[in-house]
Amino acid sequence: MKEVNVGICGLGTVGGGTFNVLERNAKLITGRTGINIRVARVATRTPRTDINLGDIPFSTDVFDVVNDASIDVVVELIGGYDTARELVLAAIENGKHVVTANKALIAVHGNEIFEAAAKKNVIVSYEAGVAGGIPVIKAVREGMAANRVDWIAGIINGTGNYILTEMRAGREFAEVLKEAQDLGYAEADPTFDVEGIDAAHKLTILASAGFGVPLQFEKAYTEGISEITPYDIAHAEVLGYRIKHLGIARRREGGIELRVHPTLVPRSHLIAQVDGVLNAVLVDGDAVGQTMYYGPGAGDEATASAVIADIIDAARAVASSSNQRVPYLGFEPEAMENLPVLPMEDIQSAYYLRITAMDHPGVLAKIASVLSEHGINIESIMQKESEFKDGRIPVIILTHTVQERQMNRAIEELEALSDIDGRVVRIRAENFEG
Ligand code: HSE
Repeated sequence: MKEVNVGICGLGTVGGGTFNVLERNAKLITGRTGINIRVARVATRTPRTDINLGDIPFSTDVFDVVNDASIDVVVELIGGYDTARELVLAAIENGKHVVTANKALIAVHGNEIFEAAAKKNVIVSYEAGVAGGIPVIKAVREGMAANRVDWIAGIINGTGNYILTEMRAGREFAEVLKEAQDLGYAEADPTFDVEGIDAAHKLTILASAGFGVPLQFEKAYTEGISEITPYDIAHAEVLGYRIKHLGIARRREGGIELRVHPTLVPRSHLIAQVDGVLNAVLVDGDAVGQTMYYGPGAGDEATASAVIADIIDAARAVASSSNQRVPYLGFEPEAMENLPVLPMEDIQSAYYLRITAMDHPGVLAKIASVLSEHGINIESIMQKESEFKDGRIPVIILTHTVQERQMNRAIEELEALSDIDGRVVRIRAENFEG
C-alpha cells in the first residue's frame, strides 16, 4: 500500500484534534483512500501530556518538520502571521504540500504563498481556516465551479455568534466571552473574534475563491459586536429581525463589497436560526441560486475534520502521478480579475436606526424630513413610550436599501439637530437578495 508521511506543526486545540482523529479513524481513512497516511513527525513549542505520541519523532522546533526529507505533507497549525509564513514558505521551498488552518496567514500572505507554491507545483490548502468543519471552500471552489458567484454572506465567527446568542437570552457580554474562551472557540487574541478581524480574514478568502479576485484583506471593512446592546437586540426582534455578525461579499459594477459588521437579518430566514458556535455561509450562484452551508465553525475535532480532508487531498496528489490540481483560489491565475474592493461609502444596504429624540411635537416630522431629503425610504418606524422618563424618547426606524454615503450624510444631519440627543445607533440590515 502507498504510504504518505505527514508532519504536524502545532499541537494546540486543532493540532490535538487532528492527531486524535487521524489515529482514531486511520483504518477508515485508508479504506477511503487506499493510502496509509502516517503521522511521521510532530513539533510543538508546548508539549501535551494528554496526547500519547508513541514513538513518533517529536521536537519543539517546528522547522524540524519542514527540514525532514521524509515528510510529504506539512500541516501548519501554529497560527499567527510571521513564523507561520516563514514555515509555510520553507515547506514550499522544500517541495512539500502544505495544509493550514491559518486564515490570518492566507488572508494576509496568501497571494505570496500561492505564487511560491505554483512555482514548486505543490498544494497549499486551507479549508479548516474558513468556517471550521464546514467544507465550504470545497463547495465554492469545486461544487460551484459551474457558477458565476454573485454574493456570499455568512456567520463565520463562532465566538461572536455564541456571544450574540447568549446575549439574546439576557446574559452579559464579558461573561459569555470568557466562556467561549474556556471552550477553546476564541482566538488567542479574542479581539480578533469580537471586532470582526477573524471573520474578515475568512470573508477575504471566501470572496477570492468565489469571485476569482486576489486576496485583499487590508481593504475589508470590519465592525465588531462590542457596541451591540441588549436593547437593540430586543428591538430588532420586535421588528421581525435578529442581529447577527455577518461577513458580506458582493460582486458589483467595477468592484466588490467586502464587509463584516453586525447585521439585522429577517427572523424568518434560515440564517437567523443559526445559533451558538455554529457557522453558516450563504453562497449565491447564477446557475444554482442560493445555497447554504451550515455546521460547527470552531472546536478541536470539528476543525480537524476539515484539516484531514485537505491532508487526504494532498496525500492523493503524492500517491498519484497526475498533475491536475484544483487551483489555489479555484481559478487559473490568468482568469483572475483585478476587481478592487469598493469603498464602504459605495455599498448598498438597508438600515436599522435608533435615535434618541426629545419628546415634543414635530420631532418625528423633522427626522422623516432629513431622511427624505437624502432619498431614504422608511420601511417601518416605531416610537416607544419613553423608557428614559426624562423627556427623551427612542425612535426606531428601519429603512429600505440605500447607498451608505447617503446614510452617512443623513446621520450627520440628524445628530446635528437640537431635538436629537447623542449619537444615532446604526445597524445595517440584509435581506439576501441581489
Ligand atoms: N475563533 C474562531 C471562531 C475559531 O470563533 O470562529 C474558528 O476559526
